[in-house]
Amino acid sequence: MDQVRDPARAYLELEGVRVWAPDRSELLRDVTWRVRPGEHWALLGPNGAGKTTLLSMAGARRHPSAGVVRVLGERLGKVDMRELRRLIGVVDPALRMPDELTAEAVVLTGATGSVQPLWERYGPPERARARELLELMGCAHLGARRVGTCSQGERGRVRIARALMPSPRLLLLDEPARGLDLAARELLLAGGEVVAAGEVGAALTGEAVSACFGLAVEVRRHDGRWLASMSGGGAACLAGPPRHVVG
Ligand SMILES: Nc1ncnc2c1ncn2[C@@H]1O[C@H](COP(=O)(O)OP(=O)(O)OP(=O)(O)O)[C@@H](O)[C@H]1O
Ligand SMILES: [Mg+2]
Repeated sequence: MDQVRDPARAYLELEGVRVWAPDRSELLRDVTWRVRPGEHWALLGPNGAGKTTLLSMAGARRHPSAGVVRVLGERLGKVDMRELRRLIGVVDPALRMPDELTAEAVVLTGATGSVQPLWERYGPPERARARELLELMGCAHLGARRVGTCSQGERGRVRIARALMPSPRLLLLDEPARGLDLAARELLLAGGEVVAAGEVGAALTGEAVSACFGLAVEVRRHDGRWLASMSGGGAACLAGPPRHVVG
């Protein structure tokens, strides 16, 4: 994986990507997207727009039906996907976390990519890292707590700590609305097509958001946060300032 070590190389490259469902309906149409090292992107779009489908390719979990996907310099279809997955952290709200496990045990499972802990594979370095990551996520006090008793937001933090466990090169967060404001740049997706992409200030406009969600939306920036409002309606916070999670 020589290109992976080249810092100038994009971490993620999609070119003319299309995805069809088994019934031949089109889930993604002609998506081109490039993520370079150090960049933070947010993917916005209504339910069913294709965000999770796009992330499943970025996470080396599925192939495109057409077009090219390169993840960490490796072209999907020409690389062992399991190898690649070990370099990618995925925060998936659908991840099963057995209620009876402690938060620390759940974080440890990130080292083995398993649902249940493989205790014989965790030594003092793994345990120390799990505790550090819980601390990083502001959850040090939850280490010994059963995840079943954690709040939704606390479980979200535990999921991120778990995804960071193997020191991934690429971190993918699905459902960022669950309290995660990693947006430094924005890419808007609607009905499987890219509506707008680029620097957050240029791409996150009322016009683009309106086209994306099919609603008349105004977008304003206030105190470093992005606010979306509908005429006569209330405002919703879209995204906060860029923030580093992976050091
Ligand atoms: N196997 C399939 N057969 C038919 N349609 C599918 C299949 N898998 C996914 N889809 C459809 O593809 C579309 C995109 O799904 P995806 O999960 O990527 O959306 P999303 O943008 O993540 O939505 P959400 O905001 O609800 O999470 C949806 O309309 C979904 O119903
Ligand atoms: Mg989704």
